Amino acid sequence: MQAHGLAGASISVRWEHGMKFGYFDDQKREYVITQPDTPLPWINYLGCEAYFGIISNTAGGYSFYRDARLRRLTRYRYNNAPFDLGGRYIYVRDNDAKEFWSPSWQPTRHQLEKYECRHGMGYSIIGSEYKGIEARTRYFVPLGENLEIWQVTLTNHRHHASSLSIFGGVEFCLWDAQDDSTNFQRNFSIGQVEVEDDVIYHKTEYRERRDHFAYFTSSAKPAGFDTQRDKFLGPYRGWDNPAAVERGESGNSIAYGWAPIAYQHIKLNLKAGESQQIVFILGYQENANDQKFDPPNSQTINKKVAKATIAKYLSPANADAAFENLRQYWDSLLNIVQVDTPDEHTNRMVNIWNAYQCMATFNMSRSASFYESGIGRGLGFRDSNQDLLGFVHMVPSRARERILDLAATQLPSGGAYHQYQPLTKRGNNDVGSNFNDDPHWLILGVAAYLKETGDWSILGEPVPYDNQPGSETPLYEHLQRSFQYTLDRLGPHGLPLIGRADWNDCLNLNCFSDTPGQSFQTTTNKEGKVAESIFIAGLFCLAGRELADITVQKACPTHGGTGKCAEAESEAKKYLAEVKKMEDTIRKHGWDGEWFLRAYDDFGNKVGSKECEEGKIFIETQGFCTLAGVGLNDGMAAKALQATKKHLATKHGIVLQQPAYSKYYLHLGEISSYPPGYKENAGIFCHNNPWVIIGETRVGNGDQAFDYYSRINPSAREEISDLHRCEPYVYAQMIAGKDAPTHGEAKNSWLTGTAAWNYFAITQWILGIRTSYEGLQIAPVVPKNWKGFKATRKFRGVTYNIQVERAGAGNAVALTVDGKSVKGDVVPLPTDGRKQVAVKAVLT
Ligand code: GLC
Ligand code: GLC
Repeated sequence: MQAHGLAGASISVRWEHGMKFGYFDDQKREYVITQPDTPLPWINYLGCEAYFGIISNTAGGYSFYRDARLRRLTRYRYNNAPFDLGGRYIYVRDNDAKEFWSPSWQPTRHQLEKYECRHGMGYSIIGSEYKGIEARTRYFVPLGENLEIWQVTLTNHRHHASSLSIFGGVEFCLWDAQDDSTNFQRNFSIGQVEVEDDVIYHKTEYRERRDHFAYFTSSAKPAGFDTQRDKFLGPYRGWDNPAAVERGESGNSIAYGWAPIAYQHIKLNLKAGESQQIVFILGYQENANDQKFDPPNSQTINKKVAKATIAKYLSPANADAAFENLRQYWDSLLNIVQVDTPDEHTNRMVNIWNAYQCMATFNMSRSASFYESGIGRGLGFRDSNQDLLGFVHMVPSRARERILDLAATQLPSGGAYHQYQPLTKRGNNDVGSNFNDDPHWLILGVAAYLKETGDWSILGEPVPYDNQPGSETPLYEHLQRSFQYTLDRLGPHGLPLIGRADWNDCLNLNCFSDTPGQSFQTTTNKEGKVAESIFIAGLFCLAGRELADITVQKACPTHGGTGKCAEAESEAKKYLAEVKKMEDTIRKHGWDGEWFLRAYDDFGNKVGSKECEEGKIFIETQGFCTLAGVGLNDGMAAKALQATKKHLATKHGIVLQQPAYSKYYLHLGEISSYPPGYKENAGIFCHNNPWVIIGETRVGNGDQAFDYYSRINPSAREEISDLHRCEPYVYAQMIAGKDAPTHGEAKNSWLTGTAAWNYFAITQWILGIRTSYEGLQIAPVVPKNWKGFKATRKFRGVTYNIQVERAGAGNAVALTVDGKSVKGDVVPLPTDGRKQVAVKAVLT
């Protein structure tokens, strides 16, 4: 064990132990894993449009088209031991020695020489050497295609020629991943394949209602194949020891039911020093209903389109070109925001990994990771709206589409389905509605979109309610109804009623669940007319101010508006009056003396108060109220932040509440179901740490903001990977809190609102490069000992080259734009067609 320190300038935290399993290659934008037995599988995502795969550092994981539950291509076994079994496996067999191994370590787990996994932007390269044979596979999904490519390069480093057998393939999932893992009485009889011209086609259920099939093939002439799993593995054997690989010969089996697979066997003779490449392709293809079969009255798949695609990508040159294309795509996405600060962890996360994770959360919401099964939740209304904060600058057109889809699941009341299914885009009835914070996130998502793009036309888009044709109103009215939703649901203190839950899905004040297995969120035993949320109150204040701004801005003729500015102003005033009223109510009924209360329960008692025995102080209201600007002028915000530091901050991040609930409280719900220190029961829920970070910037405390930011920054935690356990290149939802025996251990990496919020907090609030309606605002609140930093930001078609210099210890900004000094801290949008703007900000 070595002693390690954080590089961040203002960090006083020192880790007492540490160990790494790889390193960052920032030049290549890769994380390089150097030993395969990481504490947990460390994964990456392939694909960023419609075809997706999850891949671990040992090639575990699966693929799907659009919907991880309903269109699953390959099988994955959950909660297995080992954890990540089921994947894109290659076996290499030395035909003379009659020995075989997996170059990705799993599933045979041979002691490899020179193992390396490079997770990059939309691709992973897994390679190793064993007894002088090197095998390196580059996995990726070409842009615009519904397929994945595995480029396997084999090199013989021995002094003599080697006769090798390569087996590569997948196990198919029978499409609906939920049904696939439960309905065996049917599924063991329905599997069907076709094998034609050395391509294996998986066509289970194609004979009936499906219009899609999968295919697998390779660029080499196979010596044989298998499509029946049990023929390939042999009875009582697992993936670590397939009979066909052991024998060095495939069975050319055709699957009738049971478990269809696609494995190809390729024989290679490599001279000493020789390299050869094999390209494998796994693809997904849809055919129009009247074109499914060829000839039309047969049961044979029409393969016309698929064959052309296959022919294209089996050429290594075309595969290389597709890879180069993907690389450039990611360069262009990441180059929208690039920073050069004194802290390498900040640079690495902002420039590479945090932005990359924001793409994953945008695409997946909370559906498919190694912690989200892909068969559970769809896209969350609140989650997806928040994800936009970190994504909107990358592909605004997709953000626009997402906003309209989300709004279409809104209900006429202004409320929203909590989740919707990505394939059907319909609200999910199992979970339903009445999470009373949901509608406000739509206002925040739209505001972020408008500030980034200036595309005011989105507000006029006709959008239905509950997807009912004929119910359309302009999107703007959806926002009005979102705001009104809370005003229609105020409780005894004039605070918002909480409904099933607010942001904290586990604070279930109307549920009173007393039966094992009962859902905490959807079992509602109380009328819901008493329990109130101060969190929603804070959210309402922020959303109300955003709505007021949108209302005024949208009237401007330059924004395509009517020019009826007076009318707009008076509408906006109404919103602001409600916000003011809510702030007064918070001051009166939502303040505990030193911090913001969390809620009132169904008995009208306080939650998150000194008066409580446990759960006296919660992070959500301290963070969200201060970030929303509540209590900035009367000292409440500063006090709340001090209390947060005193009671909630740990060196691994800020815990959700204190003291943790030591027992189950029927009237509080799921929050008290977790053992102390985990998840919502006093875990470090990384999603809401950035709210406090932003709150600290709002009171001007850059040192504290950056200190909190660094505590949960995954790159800054790399050196304690043995404790942290999750990937050091992405955020996890949770780090175990101080009440947990495993304090500092992360869980549930990748799909978390933490990604977008931290990105937003560091780029827009600490570095202070903030989108606004008038232009790019430059308002850094950085540590005092930073001499400055540089950044480039592409914004509305213009590249801003920003240089920030510290001349004094404060946060006041003196701005120079293209050599001319400008009043205030907003760089006006150029009106003369300039595409490059030089910005200098001096902090005094
Ligand atoms: C999960 C949910 C999110 C919720 C949070 C806190 O991350 O996806 O919607 O806000 O937990 O309960
Ligand atoms: C559980 C989790 C919470 C998540 C919710 C989603 O309650 O603890 O984090 O938001 O499930 O339904």
